[in-house]
Amino acid sequence: MKSYDIGILPGDGIGPEVLREGIKVLDAVAALEGFSYKPVAYPYSGEYYLKTKELVPPPVIDEWRTLDAVLLGAIGHPDVEPGLVERSVILGLRFGLDLYINLRPIKVYAEHLCPIKGKGPADIEFVVVRENTEGLYSQIGGHLKKGTPDEVALVNGVYTWKGCERASRYAFELAVKRAAERGPGRKPQVTLVDKANAIRPHDIWTRSFAQVARDFPEVQTDHAYVDACCMWMIKNPEWFDVIVTTNLFGDIITDLGAMLQGGMGIAASGNIHPGKTSMFEPIHGSAPKHAGKNIACPLGAVGAVGMMLDFLGETEAAARVERAVADLLTSGAVPSADARSGIATSAMGDMVVERLGG
Ligand code: IPM
Ligand code: MG
Repeated sequence: MKSYDIGILPGDGIGPEVLREGIKVLDAVAALEGFSYKPVAYPYSGEYYLKTKELVPPPVIDEWRTLDAVLLGAIGHPDVEPGLVERSVILGLRFGLDLYINLRPIKVYAEHLCPIKGKGPADIEFVVVRENTEGLYSQIGGHLKKGTPDEVALVNGVYTWKGCERASRYAFELAVKRAAERGPGRKPQVTLVDKANAIRPHDIWTRSFAQVARDFPEVQTDHAYVDACCMWMIKNPEWFDVIVTTNLFGDIITDLGAMLQGGMGIAASGNIHPGKTSMFEPIHGSAPKHAGKNIACPLGAVGAVGMMLDFLGETEAAARVERAVADLLTSGAVPSADARSGIATSAMGDMVVERLGG
């Protein structure tokens, strides 16, 4: 029987609750498909930091590299300095394991979930490829004369040719794969989203994208500045197939994308280095105000499990998860993909599990 070593990082707030449902689905689909996995639990979180003052120690990052994949719930605690634990755990994984792709599908499963009048599943089905190791997340910068009237704060946006090139290449390859799966009718398309008008060095994206595009003559290319991209995502979301963009812009537009899908509770992501240990998580945060109430929507965590299965090559298991979520949402039983659905976190997990046989 095939077995995988899976790191489990439940984290803070609603993280443990939603990840529990993701793992419930993982257990059920593993039994159906005949594979197993060994969970390796890690305590790192804001809560753990408050108790122990411990962040992720460097040897643990080496240990993560030996796993097949990592599942993460959410990180962030209101009593800890903003971003301290997020940088240690989430960016520790992304940078430490060189997870250079942050793959964020944006898909409306059922019309009633979409807040845009007249738009539905046929219109909103695209993927954001967010560069995940550079840009304004480089951590290069700091303060001068901090706390004085002369204070200066500097942050450097770092864009390497290699980083831009590999993100674009992944996006083009993905567009080709998606087109093959959906069959004839619509050409594959990749849209580059940047801000190369105001931020001139962003033209490293323009040029590396154009170079990669030459290797994919069958793929249509498009470009949007990030502000216009936000406008198009609401006005004509059906124009998008695959978007490739910088780390920060990808962060921002995928929260907008999550709302198009029906709520932060449903959006999943994969932090991927093809062929190496990768990490999967819902895109939402720890949502402290919803924690411990069994009301958070676990579908983002369930989706992350589905993406992990696909990455591991358990494609039939991944397809089962996808069909179960789609079936649940089209049934109309779930009014919204957020904490106001009226469906308990644990019950939602059960509802997915019940549908895995289909
Ligand atoms: C995300 C989150 C993270 C990010 C935070 C928690 C550091 O917003 O995964 O989208 O900015 O990437
Ligand atoms: Mg974000």
